[in-house]
Amino acid sequence: MKPTGTPVPPEGPILPPEPDAAARPGRAVPAAGAAAAGKPPPVSIDDYEAMARERLPRSAFDYYAGGSGEEWTLRENREAFHRWVLRPRVLVDVSDRDMSTTVLGTSVAFPILVAPTAMQRMAEREGELATARACADAGTVMVLSTIASATIEEVAAAAPEAPRWFQLYVHRDRGLTQDLVERAVAAGYSGLVLTVDTPVLGIRDRDSRNRFASPPGVGLSNVGARFLPEVEPGDSGLAAYVRTMQDPSVTWEDVEWLRSLCDLPLVLKGVLTAEDAAIAAEVEVDGIAVSNHGGRQLDGTIAALDALPEVVDASGPCEVYLDGGVRRGSDVLKALALGANAVMVGRPVLWGLAAGGEDGVRRVLRLLAQDLDVAMAIAGCRTIGDISADLVRPAPR
Ligand SMILES: Cc1cc2nc3c(=O)[nH]c(=O)nc-3n(C[C@H](O)[C@H](O)[C@H](O)COP(=O)(O)O)c2cc1C
Repeated sequence: MKPTGTPVPPEGPILPPEPDAAARPGRAVPAAGAAAAGKPPPVSIDDYEAMARERLPRSAFDYYAGGSGEEWTLRENREAFHRWVLRPRVLVDVSDRDMSTTVLGTSVAFPILVAPTAMQRMAEREGELATARACADAGTVMVLSTIASATIEEVAAAAPEAPRWFQLYVHRDRGLTQDLVERAVAAGYSGLVLTVDTPVLGIRDRDSRNRFASPPGVGLSNVGARFLPEVEPGDSGLAAYVRTMQDPSVTWEDVEWLRSLCDLPLVLKGVLTAEDAAIAAEVEVDGIAVSNHGGRQLDGTIAALDALPEVVDASGPCEVYLDGGVRRGSDVLKALALGANAVMVGRPVLWGLAAGGEDGVRRVLRLLAQDLDVAMAIAGCRTIGDISADLVRPAPR
């Protein structure tokens, strides 16, 4: 049937259209997500992953994509979202919607933050700088990794006005650790994220098989060892770095020590049990990130989403974030309904970077935000405050 009357505009875009990156001065990145000859443009995070797989050298893709052990927990992180179903409410006026919220007192345009991931320059020349600019444009928080391939100061300078947090690995050299914290404070970072799930690095077969090492020119810019050490066959350069440089003796007492170093709000990243959440609340940290490091640490641990309810119950006044397997707007909806204040995404940003640099990250964030906006509308939620526990129930068996 032929359409009649006034043409209806196609659904969306919900956010204003992006200028083509290639047309922007000083941003020499390929037009991200532009359809390669004969290929449809990427419309999902999985599409971006497929593009990244085509573009990246094998060892870089494997480092980004892989998990530890049999990668069971990695798969579970995704599967867990399928164990919950949504209970949408109908006949709600959702013509005016707002995804904005706050995290640690900072306003964000939507409750999707960028998780810390190491060595982003393996994905694209600008690496963390591109991610910082894209996050600034999108209106969300970037968390910079200790083992980033750009410095704390370079990332701050790339997007000076944007809110950003610094992720800390405690090193055996406590002087170096203190220095990292002080540099983050001086460079205007507004949150400290202490990763607590990595006393040693998980065993990652892909990296051992590839004898993973940083490619030429990509190093750990913030810490003494600028490049990952060469290792014997069957070992990984990153594992060797963590073994020799990072401190496996960190305890709750060190949390107190860290708090004595600065006044930044403190988030513990990598909590998976009510017991640890209760201690975190008792020592009055500001936030807890429920995370199994994207399935990269202890294989066999619970999926992050499955751990979320017990952590939320025990977390007192702490804000709670969730990461691991978030790929769709409906995932964000489920996590928030189960009590998270916001989610973080790791790999999706790396796929965006590899597919198209800064513009690729911008498009990935935009895609996730649009997906959440549509999911909220159809579920009958106008604001983040409307997302409540009633919105989910366990999937029928
Ligand atoms: C390639 C890669 C590097 C990572 N590097 C760090 C890191 O340096 N510090 C950290 O706390 N977490 C790190 N993570 C874990 C992420 O912060 C986050 O917990 C995880 O990626 C979330 O899962 P997702 O990738 O499924 O979104 C890394 C994850 C990946 C995939």
